Amino acid sequence: MFSTDGLVDIDNGIVSRDIFVSPEVFQRELDTLFTRAWLFVGHESQVANPGDFFTSRMGEESVILCRDKAGAVHVFLNSCRHRGMKVCRYDEGSTTLFTCPYHNWAYGLDGRLMGVPQYKQLYEGVLDKADWPLVEVPKLARYKGTVWATWDPEAPDFETWLGDARQHLDEALDCRDGRPGGSEVIGVHKWIFPSNWKFAAENFLGDTYHNPSHRSVDLIGIGPSAAAGVKGRRDNEMAKATHVWISFPAGHGIHSAIAPLGDTYQESFKDNPEIEAYFRHCFEERQRRKGEDARLIPFVGTIFPNTSYHGRQPRGLCVWHPHGPTETEAWRFFLVDADAPAAVKDFLRRYYMRYSGPAGMTEQDDMENWNYATAASRGAIARRHPFNYQQSITAASLDPEVLGYRVPGLVSTQVTEHMSLGFYRRWADHLEERSWDVLLGLGDTRFGSAAAS
Ligand code: FES
Ligand SMILES: [Fe+2]
Repeated sequence: MFSTDGLVDIDNGIVSRDIFVSPEVFQRELDTLFTRAWLFVGHESQVANPGDFFTSRMGEESVILCRDKAGAVHVFLNSCRHRGMKVCRYDEGSTTLFTCPYHNWAYGLDGRLMGVPQYKQLYEGVLDKADWPLVEVPKLARYKGTVWATWDPEAPDFETWLGDARQHLDEALDCRDGRPGGSEVIGVHKWIFPSNWKFAAENFLGDTYHNPSHRSVDLIGIGPSAAAGVKGRRDNEMAKATHVWISFPAGHGIHSAIAPLGDTYQESFKDNPEIEAYFRHCFEERQRRKGEDARLIPFVGTIFPNTSYHGRQPRGLCVWHPHGPTETEAWRFFLVDADAPAAVKDFLRRYYMRYSGPAGMTEQDDMENWNYATAASRGAIARRHPFNYQQSITAASLDPEVLGYRVPGLVSTQVTEHMSLGFYRRWADHLEERSWDVLLGLGDTRFGSAAAS
């Protein structure tokens, strides 16, 4: 049986470099973690009409997200049942059939095997087409426009998996004016970088400690407004708020902030009255709709294992697809309110590109760290020396009130690495193929006796 002893020592805050470079650990992740966890596969706006498809990934494997003629959403393994050829080689599009390029078996949008060339002469009486559909995920969830799937039929439902992290993810998915859901994807950036996927996932658990990496972009004006005299990566966000770093029983971790009571809008887009009016309206309408809950301001988080989000600016979901022990394929899905004015969408699109992605000013800083850290951890000598995860790990407590606002989860109000340790605790449980009760953190005493959420 596989053991994570020697790889992660959660109680003492020690993590081996092997988990970031070892081919054996990587294969174990593919076999036991990415085959059971709920994974983000795409957004309903990418398959808005019957026949639409978006080719996505679950772990290293290609999957097709599509909408059938009746409007149902499916996720299929992108591999022909005959000899395994990809039945779809496009990134996205619209079709009536997935016809395999190799020998032309053809599958419907509901996955059924519809056509087999020369069926009568070669297969009749032997091959029953009903037995050979595309392989479909046993469980799929549609949540506020996002689509998630798991290969494990025994997995709990998606919202149980999310637990109280849902409150924070919602802030990325809901409209800027507080209406639930309503987002659309305005573009996906895809690129490969030479680092283990966990460096990125961990960064988004709330590694605020790495701010020195972004000193150059913090000294210039690349924020949303890009206005003269406004420095930093973001404009006025969270300036008056109290920050919280929270881990959740299933391994998710977030960094959000709680605004003071009676917070008011701060003018941010002085050079652009149309954009300014839009964001002022959204701020005030959100206060009105959400009341006390408008105090929760999202920043970043990672939904275990490999889906991260930026809740405010640049708003979106980032999936860190495992591509090899020391290689990751990043997909950033950029979100806007579907009914936002065209000028706002265009304005945000430009900001998102300025901040994120392979050419984004801020994302370049992060990747440089992950890439060099991976390269410098490969060596025989380096691997003898583990990483330190002891930052503020005793500072978190359960369900405190922050500025009078109750925040469920294991919460710290100072920069900490307890979310990373929570992540690696569940990561170890997955690699050791624990029961779903354990994977959900039930009975994890750090979360009290009722850790079901
Ligand atoms: S591999 Fe698809 S038809 Fe043969
Ligand atoms: Fe960063």
